[in-house]
Amino acid sequence: LAAEVKLVVKADQAGPVIHRNIYGQFAEHLGTGIYEGMWVGPESKIPNVRGWRKDVIGALKALHVPLVRWPGGCFADEYHWREGIGPRNKRPVKVNTNWGGVAENNAVGTHEFFDLAEQLGAEAYVNGNLGTGSPQEMAEWLEYMTAEGDSTLAQLRRKNGRDKPFRVHYFAVGNEAWGCGGNMRPDYYVDLYRQAATFFKTPPNNRPIFIASGGTGHQIEWTEAIAKRAKGVPVDAISHHAYTLPTSDWAKKGQAVNFPESEWVSTLANAQQIDAMIRENVAVLDKLDPSKKIGFYFDEWGSWYDPEPGSNPGFLVQRNTLRDALLSALHFNVFHEHAERVKMTNIAQMVNVLQAMILTTKDKMVLTPTYHAFAMYVPFQDATSLPATLEGNPVYKVDKFEMPTVSATAARGKDGKLYLGLVNAHAHDAQSLTVDIGKPVQAARGQLLTADKMDAQNELGKPAQVVPKAFEAKASNGQLKLTLPAKSVLVVALEP
Ligand code: AHR
Repeated sequence: LAAEVKLVVKADQAGPVIHRNIYGQFAEHLGTGIYEGMWVGPESKIPNVRGWRKDVIGALKALHVPLVRWPGGCFADEYHWREGIGPRNKRPVKVNTNWGGVAENNAVGTHEFFDLAEQLGAEAYVNGNLGTGSPQEMAEWLEYMTAEGDSTLAQLRRKNGRDKPFRVHYFAVGNEAWGCGGNMRPDYYVDLYRQAATFFKTPPNNRPIFIASGGTGHQIEWTEAIAKRAKGVPVDAISHHAYTLPTSDWAKKGQAVNFPESEWVSTLANAQQIDAMIRENVAVLDKLDPSKKIGFYFDEWGSWYDPEPGSNPGFLVQRNTLRDALLSALHFNVFHEHAERVKMTNIAQMVNVLQAMILTTKDKMVLTPTYHAFAMYVPFQDATSLPATLEGNPVYKVDKFEMPTVSATAARGKDGKLYLGLVNAHAHDAQSLTVDIGKPVQAARGQLLTADKMDAQNELGKPAQVVPKAFEAKASNGQLKLTLPAKSVLVVALEP
């Protein structure tokens, strides 16, 4: 057991609320993320509700998924919404040019997406097409979804089965404009954003949060250009992307399983870069938007490994292990710390793609370690963050890679309880932690996620190799000491 670390929580100093949409999800028309993974169609033998798989939707509901982003990603900038409405057998079949060149039959379109969101009880985030679309196409899509009156588009929506408008909570203008969204320069994108947003005229009670598509990683120039120049039109948030690779080489990212300890550390250390990325961009915003009107969102984050051997590389299939659970918790802890500007994020992606919650094979499914990390952190949705600092936190180092051993977050849940979210990143050593919240504590109860191997995973036939176990620690004389097992995530509620 390594030397003791102390966690000091200012339990009486409320910070910003941790918006539940920090726990948002992303579903793109990519591989089997939507088709097969979630959508099987109403005629399928796989039990479904209006085409959406019962097993998968049921499992996602247990996560309290607050928000779903759709239809992409890169796919969004080639998506034409009119091709996804009306009778499904009449919809055009296109080529999904971004993701494997497979047929896209448009079976899931606007109405099906909102049905998914409504079945999940989630808010809807629609990503508009700036790359190959036009301001008119985006404006008309918004009208189709939100118009109340008798306009032709509102009538068309009714004819297609939806009387009341859909509630569009978020709407983004393009995606990765610096890459697959059009290879633009920031200033050019801002001009196009301004042009398009001028024509977004939704009813006041159904005005989405408008999102400008920002940069990636440590870039700040997109944030700068948008915050400086997108004046006179609504810009409620800038969305940034941050993927975590074990290496820094997109051609050889690193394997999802069977990796050395150095890649365990490099991956988790790279994940923690999210903190610097946020700080760098928030510093820009604090200068250009001191009244803090503009949010800083991550509508794509998560691990990205070499594709599963034998899979279609365009489908972005990867296994999901204990490492991914820790990676998620490390992100959550950082997002909580920046809850003032970071009010929404979406993990990439929900099912079968990249760092997924669920992996399906035909009519079977398995819940990944990432799923369990999301489930454990549910009490942090809409909780009030509390300042938390770690003292004596040792450095965990392997080869040239290093990171702080422990990561921690604290919040007052909606139920009034004080919750801690803790990660011990060390692959071998347990870590002892004393908790000081300025008053006596009797016990801590919650759930612990760990496993024997760094790359432990859940598989068909072996679905419970990485699942949370009940955890309890009693305090002595009001003093709480926890032991965090090696490579673990722990979420506990403290008992006064
Ligand atoms: O999530 C997969 C892809 O990653 C998205 O389509 C794109 O926006 C990003 O490059």
